[in-house]
Amino acid sequence: MREARRRFPRRWAQGSFLACWLSLCAAKTLLPCPSSCTCNTSSLEVDCSSRGLTSVPPDIPLDTRTLLLLNNRLSSLPGDSFSNLSSLHRLDLSNNFLDQLPSELLGELGNLTELRLRNNSIRSLDRDLLHQLPLLRRLDLSLNGLSQVPSGLFDDLPTLHWLSLRSNRLQSLDRVTFEPLSSLQQIQLGDNPWECDCNLRDFKHWMEWFSYRGGKIDELQCTLPKELRGRDMRTVPVEMLSYCSQLEDENSSAPAERPVPPCTKGNLAPSEPEPGPDCPQRQRYRPASVRRAIGTVIIAGVVCGVVCIMMVVAAAYGCIYASLMAKYHRELKKRQPLMGDPEGEQEEQRQISSVA
Ligand SMILES: *[C@@H]1O[C@H](CO)[C@@H](O)[C@H](O)[C@H]1NC(C)=O
Ligand SMILES: *[C@@H]1O[C@H](CO)[C@@H](O)[C@H](O)[C@H]1NC(C)=O
Repeated sequence: MREARRRFPRRWAQGSFLACWLSLCAAKTLLPCPSSCTCNTSSLEVDCSSRGLTSVPPDIPLDTRTLLLLNNRLSSLPGDSFSNLSSLHRLDLSNNFLDQLPSELLGELGNLTELRLRNNSIRSLDRDLLHQLPLLRRLDLSLNGLSQVPSGLFDDLPTLHWLSLRSNRLQSLDRVTFEPLSSLQQIQLGDNPWECDCNLRDFKHWMEWFSYRGGKIDELQCTLPKELRGRDMRTVPVEMLSYCSQLEDENSSAPAERPVPPCTKGNLAPSEPEPGPDCPQRQRYRPASVRRAIGTVIIAGVVCGVVCIMMVVAAAYGCIYASLMAKYHRELKKRQPLMGDPEGEQEEQRQISSVA
């Protein structure tokens, strides 16, 4: 209404209010509505859902506030699909086949407050995709194929309240990616194949801080390692990840290993082949087995040591006992020739003579 009023000369509008009202109504009813959509001119909602669309209709009214494109067959969108729709507040692209979103797709939607991309085939996001949405409050990325969230994706979303990453293929998240979300109140993370290892430790700290601040998290159940399967990461004591600092030390001495993104994340998908020989993926579980091996060696060493000490003690005791016995016998023998044998002979002779 404000825009329309600006378009007409003020005096004319004041002079004939009725004419103005009529012309306004005419202007509204004359707003082109795409043939494949229904338009509500009072709520400025354009509903193009469930029409089997494979592309966005080109003639969306420029003052549209809500655009519903859910339940269609959209698979790729050109970067300028929503150009000039600067009044758009809500955009729903759920239940399509969207895969890759061009980084400039949402560039002109500076008033967008709600974006729904639920149930598509999005496997990765451009880190600049959301950079010109300063008013975005709700973002739904659930039921997609995301295996990672690029750092920097949430850098310019100061008003985001609600975020869903449910039902993706996330194994790990970085704390720094989520730190800029200063208004976040609720986050959904459930139904992802989380790996509760060192890579998730800093994000665990972020979750603790987020909960402390009053934020709500649905769940974060571990899939790996096997010992933690089904447990919520928040209940895993941080001591269980105490070897992480050792690992970080190792990594910092070999910094080339860290920034290799295709290796560190998202390559445990069943469809994908084994990670390459250079991937640190495999090494991630090594510390536990190394610790186990070291433990075994220590226990074996202690047992062997105890047995050895016992044997030495036994041998020493044997030697001392033997030498004492030998000495005793020697002394006994020394005395025997003086008073033992002659007396014995004499006594025998005496007994013989007395008997006789
Ligand atoms: C248009 O939107 C208004 C406000 O949301 C609603 O009350 C009305 O029923 C809608 N009209 C149609 C035809 O859907
Ligand atoms: C949309 O904006 C572009 C420039 O960004 C302009 O060239 C074009 O004419 C506009 N289209 C409409 C329908 O206003």
